[in-house]
Amino acid sequence: MNLIAAVDKNWAIGFKNSLLAHIPEDQRFFRSMTEGKVVVMGRKTLESLPGGKPLKNRVNIVLSKNPDLEIPGCTVCHSIEELVSELEQYPTQEVFVIGGEKIYTEMVDMCDRAYITKIDREYEADAWFPNLDEREGWEMVSPGDDEEHTYFDLIYYFREYARK
Ligand SMILES: NC(=O)c1ccc[n+]([C@@H]2O[C@H](COP(=O)([O-])OP(=O)(O)OC[C@H]3O[C@@H](n4cnc5c(N)ncnc54)[C@H](OP(=O)(O)O)[C@@H]3O)[C@@H](O)[C@H]2O)c1
Repeated sequence: MNLIAAVDKNWAIGFKNSLLAHIPEDQRFFRSMTEGKVVVMGRKTLESLPGGKPLKNRVNIVLSKNPDLEIPGCTVCHSIEELVSELEQYPTQEVFVIGGEKIYTEMVDMCDRAYITKIDREYEADAWFPNLDEREGWEMVSPGDDEEHTYFDLIYYFREYARK
């Protein structure tokens, strides 16, 4: 399973249930990685999407403890155990955990790859991704593309981490 996230210098990912930055090239990267695949997200992240609607051209799986929650176009799972059993039908390399903080934290060590867009800035934040530079069992690989990318005055990098 894969994780995909955009983080700032402190591994922050969000503020007031919104993303910290909207970088068109990062949005295209996210789409190209996840289209035709399975995305797993928390209920709050679903609500943060435009119109609170699932992502097109992807299987959307949402985690919520609410037994009555029904969302057109989404499969709702009520626990990690239920999610694991729902995911059995898909190849694990096609599953992308897309946030937010709660879901990343609960699932990081079930995953073996993380696609991290690292934004070279410090934002005010209230949600974070686990720091993979310091986390036991993870390492940055391939600085596949360690090239500096820019969007106006923002500098960012596409990084990949793998479980050792
Ligand atoms: N930078 C990025 O790449 C990125 C990506 C995604 C999200 N984000 C940001 O992350 C922030 C949201 O993160 P968050 O931690 O507040 O919310 P979240 O992880 O998106 O959703 C949390 C919700 O998921 C459900 N949940 C969590 N664990 C569960 C479990 N084991 N079983 C069943 N349901 C479970 C619960 O829903 P119920 O309350 O309904 O039970 C919980 O309230 C936002 O700021 C968002 O913009 C950033």
